Amino acid sequence: MRTTTADFARMKAEGRPIPMVTCYDYASALIVARAGLRFILVGDSLGQVMLGHDDTLRVSLDEMISHSAAVVRGAPDALVIGDLPFLSYAMVDDAVRSAGRMMREAGVRAVKLEGGRSMAPIVRRMVELGIPVVGHLGFTPQSAHQIGIRVQGRTLETAADLIADAHALEQAGACAVVLELVPAPLAAAITKRLKVPTIGIGAGAGCSGQVQVWHDLLGLFDRPPFRHARQYAAIGPAIEEALRGYAGEVTAGVFPTAANAASMDEGLVAEAVA
Ligand code: KIV
Ligand code: NA
Repeated sequence: MRTTTADFARMKAEGRPIPMVTCYDYASALIVARAGLRFILVGDSLGQVMLGHDDTLRVSLDEMISHSAAVVRGAPDALVIGDLPFLSYAMVDDAVRSAGRMMREAGVRAVKLEGGRSMAPIVRRMVELGIPVVGHLGFTPQSAHQIGIRVQGRTLETAADLIADAHALEQAGACAVVLELVPAPLAAAITKRLKVPTIGIGAGAGCSGQVQVWHDLLGLFDRPPFRHARQYAAIGPAIEEALRGYAGEVTAGVFPTAANAASMDEGLVAEAVA
């Protein structure tokens, strides 16, 4: 059965934590689906973990569409949420056009955008037009050059701002709100006050769900995990070992064997080359 944004509300109402993972390509999406995860985010973290940029700002809408479409092909029954990239939703018209392309060309069934009260009118119009919108508050990577990469909402004033932003997104019709790098007690308080689920990353166990970046979960990079992450496998070293094995066998003449290619009568080949 297809997972929809209605499942967000249902899971929160039933008190069932929501596991979400980022994903950026077809082969990985097949694995996500096989693992039974039903909530997928095609994050613009794509810029860093897939494309090697320093930040998310260079990711284009075309790149988001291409990768999101691949993920939807791999996990057609999951709720695939696509990030709207930097400046692709600055005005209502931009937001509607960008989200429209993500839904029609890539097939995502929700989009995510960063920002709180200032985004509320845009979110409201999108929702009126039938676009399911997920909000994103706390550390918002598209603003990293303004706010730095750090925990948000630690002071009375910024905590109150975050709470007001979360309420504004819910009132504008957002179906869920991502909380990134928000102190756990504040994220828990916001979660209690909202009807829609919060999805945390570095925001503690009091959120309605968790989202983690594929590469962090699976240990694809040769670096210690972030504080907010946990490595559930060491896939990077496993791939490295496999590649060494492959290269070693080619070098040693062990691969391929006769079984790895079609055979043909040697006499026929001799005649053909004559
Ligand atoms: O781009 C991304 O992966 C995200 C999540 C970390 C929430 O926005
Ligand atoms: Na993102």
